[in-house]
Parts: sequence; C-alpha cells; structure tokens
Amino acid sequence: MFLCGSKFTMIRFILNNQTIETDLPKGVTVLDFARYHKNLKGTKIGCREGDCGACTILVGELSGENITYRTQTSCLMPIANANGKHIVTIEGINKADGELTPVQSALVEESGTQCGFCTVGFVMSLTNFCIDETPKTNEMAVSAIDGNICRCTGYKSIERAALKLCDKPEPTTAAGGLNFAIEKEIVPAYFAEIKSKLENLKPKISNPQSQIPNPKFLAGGTDLYVQRPEEMVFADAENLFDNSDLRFITETEDSVEIGASVVVTDLLESEIFQKLFPNLYKHLKLVSSTPIRNMATLAGNFVNASPIGDMTAWFLALDAEIELSEPSAVADGLTPNTRNIALKDFYLGYKQLAKQEEEFITKIRFRKDFTHFNFEKVCKRTFLDIASVNTAISLKSEPPAVAGGLNVIAKAHVSAGGVSPIPLYLRKTSEFLRGKEINETTISEANEILQTEISPISDVRGSESYKRLLARQLFTAHFIELFKGEK
Ligand SMILES: Cc1cc2nc3c(=O)[nH]c(=O)nc-3n(C[C@H](O)[C@H](O)[C@H](O)COP(=O)(O)OP(=O)(O)OC[C@H]3O[C@@H](n4cnc5c(N)ncnc54)[C@H](O)[C@@H]3O)c2cc1C
Ligand code: FES
Ligand code: FES
Repeated sequence: MFLCGSKFTMIRFILNNQTIETDLPKGVTVLDFARYHKNLKGTKIGCREGDCGACTILVGELSGENITYRTQTSCLMPIANANGKHIVTIEGINKADGELTPVQSALVEESGTQCGFCTVGFVMSLTNFCIDETPKTNEMAVSAIDGNICRCTGYKSIERAALKLCDKPEPTTAAGGLNFAIEKEIVPAYFAEIKSKLENLKPKISNPQSQIPNPKFLAGGTDLYVQRPEEMVFADAENLFDNSDLRFITETEDSVEIGASVVVTDLLESEIFQKLFPNLYKHLKLVSSTPIRNMATLAGNFVNASPIGDMTAWFLALDAEIELSEPSAVADGLTPNTRNIALKDFYLGYKQLAKQEEEFITKIRFRKDFTHFNFEKVCKRTFLDIASVNTAISLKSEPPAVAGGLNVIAKAHVSAGGVSPIPLYLRKTSEFLRGKEINETTISEANEILQTEISPISDVRGSESYKRLLARQLFTAHFIELFKGEK
C-alpha cells in the first residue's frame, strides 16, 4: 500500500495553459487559488458548499493512454487534489479572439443568461459534456447541468441551449472526445498539448518518504470542506483521493472489490456495476449532482457516518465489509496491519465508529449473492438534495419448493437511513424475510418488524410520524419495483 505522504513540498499542476508550482498550504481551495492568487475572477463564488455550481471547473487527469475530464466544484477542492492534473477555469476555455465558443453561443442564442452570475458554471458543465464520453442524448445533456443553479434566467432557455448542442444538423458533441472538441473549437488548441505536459509533470509530484505524524484523512473533500472550511486550509490531512491503490473496481466469480477512494461516478461508469445493477443510473442520479459525484468517495460517505448517507445505505444492503489499515506501518516501511469489519458493525452511535483514529479504509468488498437490488430515496426535492429517508434492499429469490407456489427469499439484507442516529442495517427485518414466500403477508409483517427497529426524530426533513410512514412506503416500494409484473 502506497501512501503519498501528507507533506507535499510542492504542488504542481497545470492551470489552463500555465504550469503551476506552489508551496501554499495544500488545503487552499482551487477556487481561492484561481481568484486570489492568479487573479482569475471568471470562476464565481456562490454558496461555497457545493450546491450552486457557480464555481464549476474542469479537472483533467491522465487515465491510461488518454486524458479524461470531469467537472468539480472548486470551492470544495483543495489544491492538493489538483496535484498532477489539468485545472481548467473559464479563462482556459475562452477564445483568444473574443469570439464565443459553440457552448457560449448556444446559451446566448437561446437567451440562457440574464445576470450572468451562474453562466460560467453552466458553460463549464456543458463544455465537459461536449468532451466527455457520455452518450450525446438530450437526457444526458440536461443531466450534465444537474449541479448548476440559476436564480434568474429560468431553466427552459438553458435547457434549450443544452439540447441545441445535441440537435444541430452537425452535432457539436460526439463520442470523438477531446480531439473532436478541439477541432470544433469547443476548447482551445492548447488542450492537445496537455497530455504530454501532464506526463512530464507526473513523476515529480509525490513524496513517498514523508512521514505521517497526525493522520487525518481527506478524500474528495465534499463533506470536510462544507463542515470545516477554515480549518481544512491548514489541516495536515493525508490525501487519499488520488492514491491509485485506492481507485479500482474488480470482480471475481463470487464478489466485487472496490478501492476506498472510488467516487460515485466511477460506479456509474463501471461495467461491473452496470451489469450487477440494472437501475444503476436511475438510482445514482438521486445522489448529489454530477460535480459532487465526481468527487464523492465511498469511504468518505461511510466515515462521515451521516445517518442519511446514500452510498452507506446502498452498501449496508449489500452486506458489504470494509478493510481497514494503519498508515503508521506504511510510513515505517512495514507491512500494514489490516482488519476486516462488516459495514453493519462499523456504526456504534451517532458519528461513533468502530475505528481507531489512525486507521483508514482501503477497500470495500461485497458478495454477488443476490438476484434483486433496489434503492429508494425521498427528499424535499427530487435531485441534489439529501434524503428525508432512504433505504436499499438486496434479495436472493429462489423458485418455489412446490410447483405453482411462490418464490422464496433465500437471502435478504435491508438498510434504512434517516430513521436512527446511525445508518441502519435492519437486522430483524432482514432476518425475518429469510425463508419467506414473497407475498403481501410477508411484506406487511416485515413492515411491522421494521417499525420496531427504527427510531426517527422530528427535524427539518420531516416529523417522526412522517418518517415512519416513509419507511413503510419505501419498504413496500422495494417489492413493487422488484416484482411488478410477477404474480
Ligand atoms: C452539494 C452536496 C450534495 C451532497 N449530496 C449527497 C447525497 O445526495 N447523498 C449523500 O449520501 N451524500 C451527499 N453529500 C455528501 C458527500 O458528498 C458524501 O458523503 C461523500 O461521499 C463524501 O466523500 P468525500 O470523499 O468527499 O469525503 P471527505 O469530505 O474527503 O471526507 C469525509 C470523511 O471521511 C474521512 N475519510 C475519507 N476517506 C477515508 C478513508 N479511506 N478512510 C478513513 N477515513 C476517510 C475523512 O477524514 C472525513 O472524516 C453531498 C455533499 C455536497 C457538498
Ligand atoms: S460556490 Fe456554490 S458550488 Fe461552489
Ligand atoms: S443568469 Fe442570473 S443566476 Fe443565472
């Protein structure tokens, strides 16, 4: 296990077309670095909490033979996470001659901007849509701006601009990726040189010898920078986000293993996950927004221990286990001690974990021993909101013992969030379901048991009785969703 060390002597990256080398505190956000250290004021400051998208930038990273770009909210991104990457602000997209790019033109032609405060963020998200590998459908064009909020123009004109990028007789977007985007002047020609510049930058950036005196861990920063923005600037946190040992998804015949720093978008793009979870896109679209999904790691979600963490609910229902490791051994050149623990045993109380401070999650593992999986979430608004209540279920259903009977549940794992101080694995409900026929009586009796396991409180996301109702309805919805059309 390679840890890159908490004290970078230098952080090096490419900002637009300029190579940056800085010894500023590594927790300074990319937003502040661009605006206050490089006087690039095009990127706007809105909420500073990842919600509004005014600060959206492109982040390019070497990936095999290619360079891939994703959007991120620069207000939550420390410069440490820019190390070795291409950071693109609006100044790096604008044409030198002052002409508009095709994305900017589409927004102007469709009256997609009024005060203009949000516009840069929309331009960045739509530019990324033009150069990334997602299918160039109308749905995906609109989805690309799911992390951008506009307070004055009205979304229909912005949506029209997004759709225009797909609908032109000669589309501005294609699977051709970066080369196509350069040819169409969606991004400037200097983008063609970035890959080789990053290759030259890469070997010089890490400092594997450094010690890790006070391990606290930073991954995507989407929780830490919302909760402790000032403190994080000077925090001596170990950066796990770019540790390639923690960014993998593999499968064997029986199980799937995932590195702790895999982000939600990696799951969306994983063939292994697409195969196992037919509704992957529908479900993960309910988790935050495109830029946040590009930053939000699984381990970050688990360790943040929010009772409504979506990925925590998801992996509890897969009966996943996590592997923990101690960085001190790694820094000393020793083989690290590792131990495994079931995710359902990880939560001891509100934000209390069965983990020593110096331990960090290295991987997540779950068995592919299920035939059905479903995820449900209710929030105050459908997208870019945290749950009032969420729940997931995995089931292994087997054919009936007697001809003409009903399918039987051989295995079941159910989770629920927002109904307890911890992300909850519903032990009694899961246990009850095993061996039962899938019918209305089973669902109704299981629902009674579920109500005894939860202890919701009234808060801004709903009253206790409303959350109990939601838990009942969403549990029932699992079965409607999974077995609709079956007798
Ligand atoms: C606008 C916005 C919308 C959001 N919407 C949702 C949503 O819909 N659903 C949802 O569930 N969450 C949501 N979140 C919360 C957040 O994005 C997730 O919890 C995310 O998965 C956190 O991961 P991270 O990598 O950013 O964690 P970080 O902020 O980097 O870290 C979070 C915690 O995990 C620890 N940590 C990180 N990696 C490790 C590791 N490998 N081992 C040990 N400790 C580690 C850190 O020390 C820290 O305590 C949202 C956040 C924002 C800003
Ligand atoms: S300033 Fe609102 S998302 Fe960054
Ligand atoms: S144009 Fe004013 S906020 Fe979007």
